[in-house]
Amino acid sequence: MIELTHEDEFAVLTLRRPAALNALSFELIGEIGKYIDVAGASRARALIITGEGEKAFCAGADIKELQNRSLAAQRQGAELGQAVFAKLDRLSIPSIALVNGYAFGGGCELALACTLRLALPNAKFGLPEVKLGLIPGYGGTQRLPRLVGVGRALEMVMTGRTVAAEEALAMGLVNRLVQAPGLEAAKAYAREFTGHGLRALQFAREAIQRALDVPLHEGLRVEADLSTLAYRTRDAEEGMQAFMEKRKAEFRDE
Ligand code: CAA
Repeated sequence: MIELTHEDEFAVLTLRRPAALNALSFELIGEIGKYIDVAGASRARALIITGEGEKAFCAGADIKELQNRSLAAQRQGAELGQAVFAKLDRLSIPSIALVNGYAFGGGCELALACTLRLALPNAKFGLPEVKLGLIPGYGGTQRLPRLVGVGRALEMVMTGRTVAAEEALAMGLVNRLVQAPGLEAAKAYAREFTGHGLRALQFAREAIQRALDVPLHEGLRVEADLSTLAYRTRDAEEGMQAFMEKRKAEFRDE
């Protein structure tokens, strides 16, 4: 149902349930969590998440499993999905969703939880839960407005409409459109930042994540703290020294 491979300096997590458009059964969600941890403990410099086949990144929660559940089980399921996707926030390496085809419901929420998003021309985004009488439950109502603004998030969630790749780019839902072969494009994209020290990238990600959670004065304090921590790293010493010596820095993630 899922495969984690290592290609060059990347970990690649592929959802493999194409007969159900890579829908998120609870078992699959559990496996995603397990493999995110494995990727984080590996030597990879970025995690790329994608779906098998040309049709879907992931069509969302497995609707067959959602029927006839107790409220307690439903709440546990939402908390599980949220917790697994939140692992990506804390992961020591950046993550990139490579969206090939449908990214609906929980699939869109998985992409939203990644650090960055790339879309192939056939990518289609949507939070269609209202059409099922539901609302997004794996972080969509919280991450989407942070990324694209409240107005656009309300419109997407209230209409449940599909947003194609070009529009997703225009609204900031994805960072870039890429052409096939998507994995090669994703690797080239990731190499724009994976040559930098991982610790600086992690501090930067944390500072920006916090920016959306706290008032400005607290966010500025967080930035002062994290930029001071970055300054204390060996990579910072090396980066500034390399600048002075007019050479390329050799970062060691220390
Ligand atoms: N759950 C379970 N099975 C799914 C599924 C899902 N979310 N999405 C697709 N499938 C299954 C279909 O049942 C079908 O299986 P069978 O061949 O056994 O009937 C197979 O995948 C292929 O799907 P379709 O025949 O429907 O393919 P299509 O090309 O006609 O349509 C689609 C594609 C528009 C994505 C359509 O499948 C669809 O609308 N899927 C549901 C999308 C959705 O509503 N997602 C939100 C789920 S709720 C959620 O995610 C809550 C949350 O916040 C966590």
